[in-house]
Amino acid sequence: MQLSTNVLPKIHKNAGDFMPLLGTDYIELYVSNAKQAAFYYQSAMGFEALAFGGLETGWKDKESYVVRQDKITLVLTSPLHSGTEIGKHIDKHGDGVKVIAFWVADATAAYEAAMQRGAISYLAPTKLSNEHGEVVESGIYTYGEVVHKFIERKNFTGLFLPGFLEWNSTFESPSIGLKYVDHMVGNVELGKMNHWVAFYENVLGFTQILSFDDKDISTEYTALMSKVMSNGNGRIKFPINEPAKGIKKSQIEEYLDFYEGAGVQHIAVATDDIITTVRALKSRGMQFLMVPHTYYEELGDRIGEIDEDITVLGELGILADCDDEGYLLQIFTKPVQSRPTMFFEIIQRKGAQSFGKGNFKALFEAIEREQELRGTL
Ligand code: FE2
Repeated sequence: MQLSTNVLPKIHKNAGDFMPLLGTDYIELYVSNAKQAAFYYQSAMGFEALAFGGLETGWKDKESYVVRQDKITLVLTSPLHSGTEIGKHIDKHGDGVKVIAFWVADATAAYEAAMQRGAISYLAPTKLSNEHGEVVESGIYTYGEVVHKFIERKNFTGLFLPGFLEWNSTFESPSIGLKYVDHMVGNVELGKMNHWVAFYENVLGFTQILSFDDKDISTEYTALMSKVMSNGNGRIKFPINEPAKGIKKSQIEEYLDFYEGAGVQHIAVATDDIITTVRALKSRGMQFLMVPHTYYEELGDRIGEIDEDITVLGELGILADCDDEGYLLQIFTKPVQSRPTMFFEIIQRKGAQSFGKGNFKALFEAIEREQELRGTL
């Protein structure tokens, strides 16, 4: 189903704690060459081969590779011939996130609760089974063409999902310490942020935990507004950005232009040791946004005493920020596909539950320097 971004779901008020989400089950990306994308996630980011689906498993029109690192599972999917929905998605958006799947106890109840509250259906509850048991999956649309699936796997003991086989790769990819998805950020069109905030509140029972406006997040040229939504147990956090008026084109507008619509801007993955993780990523060729060295001259005064050596943070380009509860360390990759759209954030939380507001200005100036090089500022 193609969903026009102008058609927004009708939203019902008075949502409560009706949607227990156990966590992020997996993230599926539609990519133009799943076989090579899977190898990128193995070789550059330390994911391990897990499962495979395609012609060999009886599929006729698509192929998927599943890679995993600790609690993070990525599914990379490509079409096998022209004219498919997946192919059209890739033609329009380039490589990007199609599915953010939630792990739930009851995929039928979750779907029905969402539909009653005004969600648009992507997939009615469907049973998948094999010799390892049964999975129920269902799905609804969110912003752009992104969907949320509900995955119920309590009666399943298999590797990933029915329809997939074990993928044995000879590639040895030791973990680089990525643990779980900390948050995933959506970029939505100008004027649509509050609509999607209301969608997460009313349809999925999330609450808004933070908001930033153009006074918090602006540079000489660009501005954005952001609200952070969290589910009940705090395991799923979705900041939602929209562009704000600036003198030149903001990074959010650049994303929307190149993605040709709303979509996932970045996936933040957590580590317990960001210095080791970033060193490993750099040695494997991952490129990061770098801030000017003056950032580190001021950092000590801004953040106070921390466990890490600021000189080492500076060498690697790792940023730090603090809030009332502690501090956090973070770094952002450059876009990981040809279009300047999706990227990753590596984050280590040392008490802080916030998102690095103190780094926004330095970061956005770094992004603007990249935009300048692309001629899109
Ligand atoms: Fe982030």
